[in-house]
Amino acid sequence: MRPQNLKTKIFLDSGNPVETREAIKFLGFLDGQTTNPSLIAKNPELQAKISRGQKLSSEEVKTFYRSVIEEIKVMVSDGSISIEVYADKNTSKEKIIEQAREMNKWIPNAHIKLPITEAGLLAEHDLLKEGFRVNMTLCFSQEQAGAVYNMSLGSKKGNVFLSPFIGRLDDKGQNGLSLIENIQKIYSKGDGHVEVLAASIRSYEHFLACLALEVDIITAPLKILEEWWKRDLEIPSKDFVYNKKDLSNIPFEDISLDKNFINYNLQHDLTDAGLDKFVSDWKTLIA
Ligand code: E4P
Repeated sequence: MRPQNLKTKIFLDSGNPVETREAIKFLGFLDGQTTNPSLIAKNPELQAKISRGQKLSSEEVKTFYRSVIEEIKVMVSDGSISIEVYADKNTSKEKIIEQAREMNKWIPNAHIKLPITEAGLLAEHDLLKEGFRVNMTLCFSQEQAGAVYNMSLGSKKGNVFLSPFIGRLDDKGQNGLSLIENIQKIYSKGDGHVEVLAASIRSYEHFLACLALEVDIITAPLKILEEWWKRDLEIPSKDFVYNKKDLSNIPFEDISLDKNFINYNLQHDLTDAGLDKFVSDWKTLIA
């Protein structure tokens, strides 16, 4: 059962409904689930088709994605389920919105994942005005976090998630956890309408450190949630010491939350690389 002193919402990071069932079985609760094109591509049912030499049309891949989301929805009926649009660096706002409108019809409890590109941010703004809920993904910088906040001004808490990716920064020798801390500090000057969703969690230590920081939401792979369960859903104190090893901290930037959105620097190499990876994983499935 959910520990009473747990401040953070716990999501599963997976494209496989079998794992949803497992997570709920051992934790006794689950607040939501995140998916992305790479996670859907890894789904065992889809992989079995591919290993039999089958390739799918993009329509069939979309139908498969929808069936996965519908299956998760049966188990996570009150929580949030993130569905990611297919986008590369050049995908237009109109194309993003078209996909978001279609995906949002799949289930009533979706957060639509949009990339932090100029088009993605313009789509964020318009979709929120239409009543959608969004999860702004592939965040690697404080400037990007500022832009997401700014483009969602006036939104209700719960409608906007920001997903900073810890593990992928660690992979480059930077302390991903320090980005989360910096963003929390920047957002503490605001009205709290954007929730920080710690993503790209690769270790149990990442998970504990995020709990200690009381981030709004953590999304973690099944094996990390299982480890937490084995340790009786422990909650570290705020003094938890995170061993950053030889990773270098990302310096704090005192980003203003009320610049015009074109004045935020949206560029980050890891955002570009992340988009390329999602696109290439998707393409391995398509004939
Ligand atoms: C979830 O929303 C993210 O897409 C996911 O956590 C990314 O994890 P990865 O960096 O391990 O691929």
